[in-house]
Amino acid sequence: MSAVPREEVSYRRMRPTDLGVVADLEKSLYAFPWSLGNFRDSVQAGYDCWVACHGDQVIGYAILMVALDEAHLLNIAVASGWQRRGIGRAFLDYILGVAREAKCEIVYLEVRPSNLAARQMYREAGFQQIAIRPSYYPARGGREDALFLGITL
Ligand SMILES: CC(C)(COP(=O)(O)OP(=O)(O)OC[C@H]1O[C@@H](n2cnc3c(N)ncnc32)[C@H](O)[C@@H]1OP(=O)(O)O)[C@@H](O)C(=O)NCCC(=O)NCCS
Repeated sequence: MSAVPREEVSYRRMRPTDLGVVADLEKSLYAFPWSLGNFRDSVQAGYDCWVACHGDQVIGYAILMVALDEAHLLNIAVASGWQRRGIGRAFLDYILGVAREAKCEIVYLEVRPSNLAARQMYREAGFQQIAIRPSYYPARGGREDALFLGITL
């Protein structure tokens, strides 16, 4: 599928009225999704909660937790019908810009070793592996490690 021109995708802060759509997207994208309550808590906690939109349609979302000069990217996702068109990478760059604006010096995240798409996206963006967190994620038939990645801004 062809890339979506950058100017066709806009970013804005997540609103309470987005929570249902975001939670539905989450359910469609992850075997172990966040609940709507997890997203609501993130908004209420003051995390940087963003959506990517095509026109009025929410096609992606990201949650960034900023603490002093560090940030943790807790979630980033693109609706399946919009994937592989450059949106994830552009959105990630935007979120790194948000962290930079907040004067963060480093952004961390966890990713499943089995999530090859996300790992490739993070690698291309410049993230590097820092550590492995054993049995971090729930998985079918047990637990899965997390790769702990970071990027210096
Ligand atoms: C990871 C995710 C956000 C990528 O979004 P996207 O819009 O498809 O990403 P892009 O089109 O910008 O692709 C960026 C790069 O990621 C890699 N990539 C993306 N999807 C891939 C796939 N299915 N297989 C292999 N590499 C892939 C490629 O290197 C791609 O660059 P290329 O298209 O030039 O080869 C998306 O797959 C997603 O939402 N997945 C489910 C949620 C998730 O796993 N989030 C990350 C949690 S840590």
